[in-house]
Amino acid sequence: MEKSNRTEFYLTTPIYYVNDKPHLGHAYTTIAADVLARFHRLRGLDVFFLTGTDEHGTKIEKKAAELKKTPKELADENSAHFEMLFDRLNISNDDFIRTTAERHHKAVDKFMNLLQAKGVFYEDEYSGLYCAGCEKFVTEKELIEGKCPDHKKVPERISEKNYFFKLREYLPKVKELIARNELVIEPARIRSEILALLENEVLDDFSVSREKVKWGIPLSFAPKQTVYVWVEALENYLSAVGYENDEAKFKKYWPADLHLMAKEIIKFHAIYWPALLLAADLPLPKKIFAHGFFTIDGEKMSKSLKNVIDPNKLIDSFGADATRYLLLSQFPFGKDGDIKFDKFVEQYNADLAHGISNFFHRVISMTEKYFGGVVPNSEADHPVRTGRDLSVRESIDKFWRDYARNLENLKIDQALNQIINLARKGDGIIEKNKPWEMAKTDQNLLSGIIYDLLELNRHIALAIYPFMPETAEKMLTTLGVAKEKNQKLDEIIKWGKLESGAKIKKSEPLFMRK
Ligand code: MSP
Repeated sequence: MEKSNRTEFYLTTPIYYVNDKPHLGHAYTTIAADVLARFHRLRGLDVFFLTGTDEHGTKIEKKAAELKKTPKELADENSAHFEMLFDRLNISNDDFIRTTAERHHKAVDKFMNLLQAKGVFYEDEYSGLYCAGCEKFVTEKELIEGKCPDHKKVPERISEKNYFFKLREYLPKVKELIARNELVIEPARIRSEILALLENEVLDDFSVSREKVKWGIPLSFAPKQTVYVWVEALENYLSAVGYENDEAKFKKYWPADLHLMAKEIIKFHAIYWPALLLAADLPLPKKIFAHGFFTIDGEKMSKSLKNVIDPNKLIDSFGADATRYLLLSQFPFGKDGDIKFDKFVEQYNADLAHGISNFFHRVISMTEKYFGGVVPNSEADHPVRTGRDLSVRESIDKFWRDYARNLENLKIDQALNQIINLARKGDGIIEKNKPWEMAKTDQNLLSGIIYDLLELNRHIALAIYPFMPETAEKMLTTLGVAKEKNQKLDEIIKWGKLESGAKIKKSEPLFMRK
């Protein structure tokens, strides 16, 4: 497995708006990030995995007013819904940042004051169209029939005095860094779009403060203005790793290794954010990855279509692990896709109940039947001489190489596919070798093949762990594998680590058929 010198891995999701409860889109990105966090921890890296909520701005102010709540009340309520959902989904985040927290406020203050001192802001009058849904200024050209194409609302005309950031001064440098892949933007298609934007020089300086927005962090050098919510939100990535209050932590984790998000907010992350960091003389994130946007049964998720799905309902029906699996296996990570709910039960049954779970329990029951629930001797039959089927054993190193490469390159769905295929391969080995016939003729050969099938399940459990942590733990407990801390992936994936003589523990099916 490839190693870089750095042993830390700082990984972020976007921080989510709290104008509403979390939906499936938020769950999707956070689960994907969790898979990566767990994988990198297994590789032995010191992972810092951050998620959280974006709580200031017009959008939240307006929604709170509609509901006759204060913005803070609304933010508290919905932020708690995000935390509860992430708990139920077994998200292993190391921190949860809220932009209404004191530590964020202080970090934003420090960052904005620094930029002001560096002379990269200037005051100007601004007049333009503002879409509260996007929390950004929009141009006439972007509108369809006078409305924002994403939020289907007529934007407001705003005219006020703002502080502007000299974005244009930093664009050539941002372009150069992206072109040289010092700032990696993925997938390639998104990188080309960003480079084209920079090439065509269409971007202008942008305002970093708002006069009329009250629900925000005041600029300490101009207290009548609040910090533009996007600028403040991006700074969460600094606040959480101690930018203002913990120098050692900041040194350790910054810059982020990966900012993960969907493509609709890539411009903020790939252009504005690096430019602000350059202005502040801070190192830039290593990689920014924008995955695709999904539709639900062919339609964009929207309140009016009533297809905004509460991820909690999926967890109620399928459990956390299967929900994680079903969401990530729908379409290639990094591409747009469609989520078809009516296929969920079918896919759950095929891949999880009949696939992984059935294979596992078949092997466990044969171990019980033929060996009284004890892991048999792996070498009883002298495999090379007896012509035992060694195909899985021989392909396992390649499996792990491909698996690591897939996850390092965020081909999350492909790593998942590999695991399902491995279980299928295991089933194929049972069919081909017919252990029940060996039981009548050759106990030694039977020992060897059952050992291999058990060991194969140990590998499946390890590979499944980042995706379905509860299932992985159940499998390992059943296999009698002791949970040892600080075991690195490179070590535990060697073939033959399952100990002969270990006692199998009885267990419930991993996934019940629906
Ligand atoms: N608050 C900003 C982000 C600030 S980051 C400094 C924001 N919040 S959001 O609540 O709208 O979340 C957007 C993110 O939710 C997307 O980038 C993506 O991660 C996730 N998704 C929302 N809808 C989605 C789909 N339909 N498909 C895939 N991901 C989705 O933008």
